[in-house]
Amino acid sequence: MPKPAVIVLAAGEGTRMKSATPKVLHSAAGRSLLGYALHAAHSLDPERLVVVIRHGRDQVAQAIEAMAPGALVADQDAIPGTGRAVQCALAAMDTAGVSAAGGVVVIPGDTPLLDAGTLQALLQAHQADGNAVTILTAQVPDPFGYGRIVRDQDGQVSAIVEQRDASAAQQAITEINSSVYVFDPATLHQALGQVGQNNDQGEIYLTDVVALARQNQTKVAAIISEDPTVIQGVNDRAQLAQAASELNRRRVEQAMVDGVTIIDPATTWLGPDVELAADVTIEPGTALKGHTRVEAGAVIGPFTTLTDCQVGAGATVDRTVGTSAIIGPGATVGPFTHLRPGTDLGAKTKAGSFTELKSAKVDDGAKVPHLAYVGDAHVGEAANVGAGSIFANYDGVNKSRCEVGPGARIGSNNVLVAPLNMGAGAYSGAGVVMRRDVPPGALALGGKDQRVIEGWTLRKRAGTDSAKAAQQAIDAADGA
Ligand code: UD1
Ligand code: CA
Repeated sequence: MPKPAVIVLAAGEGTRMKSATPKVLHSAAGRSLLGYALHAAHSLDPERLVVVIRHGRDQVAQAIEAMAPGALVADQDAIPGTGRAVQCALAAMDTAGVSAAGGVVVIPGDTPLLDAGTLQALLQAHQADGNAVTILTAQVPDPFGYGRIVRDQDGQVSAIVEQRDASAAQQAITEINSSVYVFDPATLHQALGQVGQNNDQGEIYLTDVVALARQNQTKVAAIISEDPTVIQGVNDRAQLAQAASELNRRRVEQAMVDGVTIIDPATTWLGPDVELAADVTIEPGTALKGHTRVEAGAVIGPFTTLTDCQVGAGATVDRTVGTSAIIGPGATVGPFTHLRPGTDLGAKTKAGSFTELKSAKVDDGAKVPHLAYVGDAHVGEAANVGAGSIFANYDGVNKSRCEVGPGARIGSNNVLVAPLNMGAGAYSGAGVVMRRDVPPGALALGGKDQRVIEGWTLRKRAGTDSAKAAQQAIDAADGA
């Protein structure tokens, strides 16, 4: 079979979104509406993918370049309407020498639930039955806002009438137009040339092609989608949220089918490119985004957001925000941990509560258990970073790195002033400000010993509650 050309309609203003961002660039469950349309289009392996743009032109063109670099971008002119959009696409295809021998598939840019299977079935039916026009339709309980499919006495599709142009009788029709079609290119060309702007919006409607194709004695067919949700359009933010929730519901359900335990499907969000092995457990309030991958037996959440992270088998990640981080097998992260880009935690490591890491490689078995900042560092195998310790990696101008050797033990509340090398098996006392390298096996201590000035509170803070408490303790000790 020859390949089809696929036209994605993305030039509309999206007025009902009331947004400075073009509608097709709004995201639902981890991908833009345009991204979903381009993905669906790609699944047909098109001869050429054509995207019609106008509103927010440069922004949308940039997004197309990033997601579908080979796509042909067609600019719609000032004449509005979905029919005009397709005319502009056909003109660009003509210039680029696109034949569309396998048909012209049109999909709207605002229908994120449209799946590859539905599109493939539509194209197959179109080609197998030799149709001039094949429309994807659905039966819905509330057809308000959609174009209605008008059928003649024989049950053949005779026209599509928009909500605002529909008579009361037509408004009662519950079969709606999805805005997904396959056309024979010659029929499409000819019929579009005959379409006027005589409708409530004064636009060139693609939907008018249907009645004209019938008048021109060509074969028009409709395929009714078994699942009406796949054609849900997004016109406002409430519909955007509905589509996002449905997309997510499907992903969560698929993950459970694939062997993932999801404690609370309603508060678990999985992005389109997330991969979860069987026997992963997701606790409530967890969002996994980007190219995050989690291996078997890991427990993620509750209340955790991971973006572009790799989580090894059997790791636990509790109440954590992580971005572009690697969490090794058997590692323990959280609660309340921030893993910033470049964090690489080895096997059986620990990053504990109120700990932040950035560009930090932590080797197997090493621990950063409490209240620490480890930035631009390498912490060797089985080393321990004491509670409250800070890697001072930034002098206000430059960032420098710290190297902590295997088996080293940093005391509580240390400051490691980078650049710094702490050798293998070295120790440091509490509260040390480490400015100079510490050789392997050495102990680093702070500059001054603790000084004790007896009776200071009684003299300098006489009459305070502290002084009274001190006096009582001293008297009691004297009496003993
Ligand atoms: C359209 C259909 C309607 C169908 C519904 C399904 C028409 C006239 N109506 O209505 O029958 O039930 O989709 O969701 O086709 N666009 C352009 N250029 C334009 C106008 C729109 O490229 O000048 C693009 C939009 O960016 C959008 C798509 O076409 O991706 C649909 O436009 P929209 O205004 O949302 O059409 P609906 O009123 O939803
Ligand atoms: Ca729409």
